[in-house]
Amino acid sequence: MEIRIEKNMNPKVKPADASKLGFGKVFTDHMFVMEFDRENGWHDARIVPYGNISISPASTVLHYGAEIFEGMKAYRRPDGEIQLFRPMDNFDRMNDSADRLCLPRIDGEFCLKALKTLIDIDRDWVPSAEGASLYIRPFLFGNDPFLGVHTVNNATFIIILSPSGSYYKEGVNPVRIMIETEDVRAVRGGTGYAKCGGNYAASMRAGEKAEKKGFAQVLWLDGVERKYVEEVGSMNVMFKINGTVVTPKLTGSVLPGITRRSCIALLEKWGVPVEERLLSVDELAEAVKTGALEEAFGCGTAAVVSPIGELSVDDVPYVVNGGNIGELTQKLYDELTGIQWGKKEDAFGWTEKI
Ligand code: PLP
Ligand code: COI
Repeated sequence: MEIRIEKNMNPKVKPADASKLGFGKVFTDHMFVMEFDRENGWHDARIVPYGNISISPASTVLHYGAEIFEGMKAYRRPDGEIQLFRPMDNFDRMNDSADRLCLPRIDGEFCLKALKTLIDIDRDWVPSAEGASLYIRPFLFGNDPFLGVHTVNNATFIIILSPSGSYYKEGVNPVRIMIETEDVRAVRGGTGYAKCGGNYAASMRAGEKAEKKGFAQVLWLDGVERKYVEEVGSMNVMFKINGTVVTPKLTGSVLPGITRRSCIALLEKWGVPVEERLLSVDELAEAVKTGALEEAFGCGTAAVVSPIGELSVDDVPYVVNGGNIGELTQKLYDELTGIQWGKKEDAFGWTEKI
């Protein structure tokens, strides 16, 4: 499929201080869009000036939340070149999400080509400030002008780009996390493993509660027994207990994070034992009490590797590693960001230059 390109004749002024970008607030000059219908498949692929889109007020996405998305980043290397990190993993996961929500699958190779073309056009927007990158948000939604609850015949796929800094205001400093004991985010058989907008909508009430109490995010428990730790709002979690890194196993209600997968590969390469298993809050609390819990951190594209300094359960605080970043967490952060920003050797072949 050809990609039509319409250049933006009124480019925006780029933010003067890239270190103050925040996350997901500034957008580049262009976006990629394509449409789907049952008769023609994906068609009308185009790169157009970034701007508002028009959809029917009856559009499926507005009523039944038929939407999936991805989050990835483009990084500015020290030599000035730009690279992506495991981009096909994101497009593959998008297809898993599409299958779960009965949305049309995408052609990952084509989407990667479209993404590279888009970034090339907006390449001056990729920041070079320390810790900053170009956050990439591909999303896909059902777009039938019809109020019946039914698998869609029409869909739209869009990629927007946002030069961004750190996701948490804390940066790489440890965050405080609240374990949510009332609301649940996902259940097995539901959509937890898919990256769909509805999962995030369901999480906002607890997120707001946590924020009001001064926590950065919520740590979700399993939706059935409300006993096992699952993941944080925008990242997977890992706990170093007596020298072993324990991370919740992918039971169907946890997002299979690409950063999680990468951290596991690095830990295994370094000979650090990793266990993917069920981990209860009681076990965690006990591990804090006995001192067995050495480190805790979250990992995700936006959050990178984010140390957890405190876990709170029903207003009881459990401080991890004296509220400081742990040695292994720091090593993982350095190695992963080193590979992503092209400062360290990429022995796994995870990066792809544009
Ligand atoms: N869990 C949730 C709920 C997320 O939103 C994210 C972010 O994408 C992750 C985990 C981490 O996934 P990844 O490492 O692929 O970004
Ligand atoms: C990401 O890390 O890419 C995410 O999608 C997290 C997001 C919900 C901000």
